[in-house]
Amino acid sequence: MAITLAFDVYGTLIDTYGVIAALEKHVGNQAPEFSRTWREKQLEYSFRRGLMQNYENFAICTGNALDYTSSYFKVPLNHKDKEELMGAYRILPAFDDVEKGLARAKKSGFRLFAFSNGSADAVEALLKNAGIRDYFIGVVSVDEMKSYKPNPAVYSHFLRRAGTLGANAWLVSSNPFDVIGAISSGMRAAWLKRSPDALFDPWGIEPTLTVTSLLNLAEQIDQESRRD
Ligand code: LAC
Repeated sequence: MAITLAFDVYGTLIDTYGVIAALEKHVGNQAPEFSRTWREKQLEYSFRRGLMQNYENFAICTGNALDYTSSYFKVPLNHKDKEELMGAYRILPAFDDVEKGLARAKKSGFRLFAFSNGSADAVEALLKNAGIRDYFIGVVSVDEMKSYKPNPAVYSHFLRRAGTLGANAWLVSSNPFDVIGAISSGMRAAWLKRSPDALFDPWGIEPTLTVTSLLNLAEQIDQESRRD
């Protein structure tokens, strides 16, 4: 059975720091810090909505997190500013290694899916804009389950939608919480350690594989799978 790869989207394929240029206009050299807080709050809101069973889609988490971050940095944003920043979030760029890495994985015979907290519409548009949509068989969104990663139900949903089993499916993600979620749900998982400073959570659950770029992902997964 061919191996399925579930690629996380935000932070893994798509660079959420791509909003920095648009943010500089509003917050100057605080843009990287603003962007980091915005992203952390967005994820926190998704975790909390998942736990509270109070689902709203990921764009709502992103918008609410932007409001929080603008208050935190004491930078008032009017409706137009907010629209512009949310617009920048809808057309974020892919990281440099993504296109080549996906092409190699597809050529090696892996079945590629995008698997995201983002709604299917938002992810489809994002991948199309970045010119990488055609590498994927499909997009699976947590929106179909009205919950968020790392709820085990969303990983099971992915497996059902992709028509595979955990032993034959790998999550590929730069987000440690996502890697731990997938492994806890019976999948394998490659942690994409994009920065040498990135830390993995010390929960005693290790990634099946750690890679530093998508360029050699296919080769490394292939090697790991042969060892079984
Ligand atoms: C995603 C989140 C983890 O794309 O950013 O699913």
